Amino acid sequence: MQHQRVLILDFGGQYNQLIARRVRELNVFCDLLPSDMSIEKIKEYNPIGIIFTGGPNSVYDENSPKIDKEIFSLGIPVLGICYGCQLMAHMLGGTVEKASTSEYGKAEVEYVSSHITKDMPKTAVCWMSHTDRITVLPEGFKMLAHSAHCPYAAFGDEEKKLYGVQFHPEVNHTFMGTTILKNFLYSVCGAAGDWTMSNFVANKIKELKEKIGDKKVLCAMSGGVDSAVAATLVHKAVGDQLVCVFVDHGLLRKYEADEVMKVFAEGLGMNLIKADDGAIFLEKLKGVSDPEKKRKIIGEQFIRSFEKQSKAIGKVDFLVQGTIYPDVIESGKGKSAVIKSHHNVGGLPSVVDFKEIVEPLRDLFKDEVRKVGFELGLPKNVVMRQPFPGPGLAIRIMGEVTEEKLETLRDSDYILREEIAKAGLDDKIWQYFTVITNSKTVGVQGDFRTYENVIAIRAVTSLDAMTADWARIPYDVLETISTRIVNEVKHANRIVYDITSKPPSTIEWE
Ligand code: XMP
Repeated sequence: MQHQRVLILDFGGQYNQLIARRVRELNVFCDLLPSDMSIEKIKEYNPIGIIFTGGPNSVYDENSPKIDKEIFSLGIPVLGICYGCQLMAHMLGGTVEKASTSEYGKAEVEYVSSHITKDMPKTAVCWMSHTDRITVLPEGFKMLAHSAHCPYAAFGDEEKKLYGVQFHPEVNHTFMGTTILKNFLYSVCGAAGDWTMSNFVANKIKELKEKIGDKKVLCAMSGGVDSAVAATLVHKAVGDQLVCVFVDHGLLRKYEADEVMKVFAEGLGMNLIKADDGAIFLEKLKGVSDPEKKRKIIGEQFIRSFEKQSKAIGKVDFLVQGTIYPDVIESGKGKSAVIKSHHNVGGLPSVVDFKEIVEPLRDLFKDEVRKVGFELGLPKNVVMRQPFPGPGLAIRIMGEVTEEKLETLRDSDYILREEIAKAGLDDKIWQYFTVITNSKTVGVQGDFRTYENVIAIRAVTSLDAMTADWARIPYDVLETISTRIVNEVKHANRIVYDITSKPPSTIEWE
């Protein structure tokens, strides 16, 4: 079943993915595609509505992105946001003025009643971020909101269903901004709200069944959310025709390998092969302290381990990958982002003989992937799993990786995770783990002098891992963690808390 679609044309603004997520949250499917999409392609796409995003340009810049004017006469509703609304006003004969000062931050607007301002309060706060402003509206348009510095904070031609907002309805700082988006989608575009994760699951399973038929499918499973959800969807569709390979490199967290086997092999009955190659990885890492060398050794051995297993499986027709929508957008290639997706599993396709890649999650944002995970009945510890790097604990042990250090790290990390969960902070912190710092200090435990590892706690808040801030964990929680680690974990006698943001640090220590 084909669902309704909204087309979001990307003019380069910083909140563009957020607009798309908001539209999806309102149960309407949308795609974020480059603004230079041709008018023929736009018609072919057949959207129920079009949204122009913001962008860094001024409509007067020589190279600023434009759009074919025909778009305004297709009879498809258009909502322009920030740069998008200025472009609309400019192209339809209004006046956009180059302002000498920018309006940035919260502003109070007064709304006038219309289809898109339905249910909005008379006045409310919104989030502005612009330099140019519209001073004369195109013919047929009327003012729908204004602020002290912005005579046309929102405007529209209700008959032609063309609307513009100078502020950002997609950000949380705009009070009831989602209502404006909802009004546009439902009252103006006539959305049916047919994009739900239960629909997605049912449709995707049907589609996968048709595509795969009786062929063989292979999936490299890491236990991470994306590969877990992708594999589960394929498994629901074709059962035992799917073979998953899980390489246990011995650098996983405490109980992690067992949990993966328990959930997927025992619980879901998946055909899951576990390659127990921890000893090989450790042997290869012997004497290696350089972080880049560690990563390289692990990456290469991972491919060798996978290769060995897949040779036994033989030729497969499809390879499953957990590519998600942000990967597709970032590759800048819209729907044909094959190159980037090949890299997602660390070069695996070149060692596996397969005909085609299956990417069941390539239309979904991370929060949608998680919803699908719950929809499929996966447990919370899989669906809400924090990001975990491919090289695993090896890059959380400064210096050489040894069995003894791995044990200390696993035990301390487990305590940290338990206490963070107990304090109800697990949903609020992006990533949290312990690190073996490669420095030893003197301590006293009982009546004895000790000379043991300094363990660091790393916990950060973040939206996308590109930037991060250290998490303000309450002192009493830190105290419990520290006390438990030095008392319960071997070879640890001092705990420190990493209070650096990214940048200048990174989230991981190596
Ligand atoms: P950094 O340390 O660069 O990490 O701030 C950003 C995010 O990426 C994760 N990370 C990795 N993930 N393979 C991965 O799959 C890797 O080699 C790797 N290195 C870092 C890190 O955990 C954080 O979420």
